[in-house]
Amino acid sequence: IPSQLIDQFGRRVDYIRLSITDRCDFRCQYCMAEEMTFLPRDEVLSLEECARLVKLFVRMGVSKVRITGGEPLVRKNAMWLFEEIGHLPGLQECLLTTNGSQLDRFSLALKTAGVNRINISLDSLDEQRFRTITRVGELAKVLSGVEHAVQAGFDNIKLNTVLMRGINDDEAFDLVNFAINKQIDISFIEEMPLGEVNHDRENSCLSNNETLAQLKSKFSLTPSTHKTGGPARYWQVNGHKTRIGFISPHSHNFCESCNRVRITCKGELFLCLGQEHKVDLLPILRSHPYDDGPLVAAILHGMRIKPKGHDFDLQRAAPAVIRFMSHTGG
Ligand code: GTP
Ligand code: 5AD
Ligand code: SF4
Repeated sequence: IPSQLIDQFGRRVDYIRLSITDRCDFRCQYCMAEEMTFLPRDEVLSLEECARLVKLFVRMGVSKVRITGGEPLVRKNAMWLFEEIGHLPGLQECLLTTNGSQLDRFSLALKTAGVNRINISLDSLDEQRFRTITRVGELAKVLSGVEHAVQAGFDNIKLNTVLMRGINDDEAFDLVNFAINKQIDISFIEEMPLGEVNHDRENSCLSNNETLAQLKSKFSLTPSTHKTGGPARYWQVNGHKTRIGFISPHSHNFCESCNRVRITCKGELFLCLGQEHKVDLLPILRSHPYDDGPLVAAILHGMRIKPKGHDFDLQRAAPAVIRFMSHTGG
């Protein structure tokens, strides 16, 4: 087994994002359509299959695994997977991206299982508005989840915020203050055109340049050398523990340094968030339960077809990619 994954542009892949379910208890406007149908169970990777893939990727040089969804914590027995991989030798970081709705229940168990860091989506601190953006989410439950995660003592907790013009673009300051009070980090993400969501992205997508300018007028910020292996560039809020990250696929493309691939809950290996190039791992997993050889070959093929980058274009009528963010896991 080769111990490194390198693509045709010389980029080394050491980070996988694994979506363990397409289901979610929220219906965020920019991520899902109001009416979603969910996949039948036998089309979704079993948790054993997820664990097998993670272990194999780690043998192939991956050191960072992020579990995503949908909402990963609504998957039945999700904790089994964290317990199975959380202390895996060779895996430096076992991570979770969540909407926070279940963290009051799971924070401690996740910490014990070996999860290193948690990223929690939070787009508004206003109850009504939070409800509008998530369609069904309950802000109080998420805030309690954030608090439980802080109390559980994770190395680092980061909020993820998608600011949208005319919807929540006046909350950057309040959200950063919230992060400062909790002594955690926060990242602002430019909205990406993924999935038909019936929401006007061309007008709502806000450049992080604007957000940074807004925040600089309120806080003393200096560029930080902090790196997570993810796409964010960080600024330190002087005098506080909090760092502000900017994930700017539109205004500051980061594809050149891409180090990651994604596995959907259907077992598709997607080589880029913004492109359709993929390799179907599920049939191989199921037809070769004991021999990893064919899987290794398929993954290496994936590395050869990993595209150079996305070509998101917000002016285009159709989204760059039709699949929903909840399938690819963001
Ligand atoms: P850290 O380990 O904390 O750096 O996490 P991360 O930023 O890699 O992961 P997270 O799940 O918090 O993702 C935050 C946002 O970044 C999501 O909206 C992702 O879709 C986006 N993102 C992550 N990786 C990529 C990428 O390769 N390309 C693009 N375009 N967006 C990405
Ligand atoms: N554009 C940008 N970010 C998105 N997310 C979900 N859909 C989109 C989109 N279309 C974010 C969520 C979550 C992270 C994993 O991805 O808010 O924080
Ligand atoms: Fe990598 Fe594609 Fe994301 Fe660019 S858009 S950073 S190439 S996954």
